[in-house]
Amino acid sequence: MKDIMTAPFLTEVRKLLQNMYRLGWDERNGGNLSYILKEEELTPYLDVTKVIRNNPTNFDAKPLAGRYFIVTGTGKYFKNVYDDPENNLGIMRVSADGQSVELLWGYADGGRPTSELPAHFRSHISRLSVDPEHRVVLHTHCTNVIAMTFVHPLDARSFTRTLWQMCTECMVVFPDGVGVLPWMLCGNDEIGVATAEKMKEFRLCVWGMHGIFGTGKSLDEAFGLVETVEKAAEIYVKIMNKPILQTITDEQLWILADAFGVTPREGFLEPRK
Ligand code: 13P
Ligand code: ZN
Repeated sequence: MKDIMTAPFLTEVRKLLQNMYRLGWDERNGGNLSYILKEEELTPYLDVTKVIRNNPTNFDAKPLAGRYFIVTGTGKYFKNVYDDPENNLGIMRVSADGQSVELLWGYADGGRPTSELPAHFRSHISRLSVDPEHRVVLHTHCTNVIAMTFVHPLDARSFTRTLWQMCTECMVVFPDGVGVLPWMLCGNDEIGVATAEKMKEFRLCVWGMHGIFGTGKSLDEAFGLVETVEKAAEIYVKIMNKPILQTITDEQLWILADAFGVTPREGFLEPRK
């Protein structure tokens, strides 16, 4: 068996979470990650027949039965993951009945998966139903997105339009826009269900006064979506109280979409002239 500390997926996760901590998005235990692993990625490093313990999912995760995940632990700090992955991360398989996860590695100090597991797993189910290649759900407390949710209407169309107008690349990176939820109590199945509903249509979901969920086929894709939204939100927060002399018009957003071959979410732009 090879040393799991040399597994590429683990190195990738450690580096990503360290980077996010350094960006100031993941204070204390803020933020969580779940990443679908392929059995063939795991078996050189781990005996997947040895289950350490089971943790209940408290909802029906049957559509994910048999899938492997690496998931951040509840109460764990992104800051500490790089140096101590075995206490802060867990590798698990969803049980055949979808009622629990079987811990195969990690949570060495007796830890459990993130309290946002319902939002993660339910979002995986939604994204897999529209994209079989999907693998990552990433939640973070990126500062400017949270700031923007205090001063901007929380409907998906206007929130997305403002973000698109803040940087030229936004239309290219997330033409499908962002879903938005109002403030809700976090860490329970209700917000999990609401998030997963948005994830049937969107790859991104903003949680009002809390943070964002981003998804993708890879860690880079999920992170890239979130950092692009966060950058746009930062520009919005910087300019919102200043006289605006020009913006990117809907006409120009259509030109961008055509040039890069992307389809803006229907109804979010004014019709072409
Ligand atoms: P966990 O520590 O349970 O992952 O919760 C952090 C968080 O961001 C809650 O939304
Ligand atoms: Zn959070």
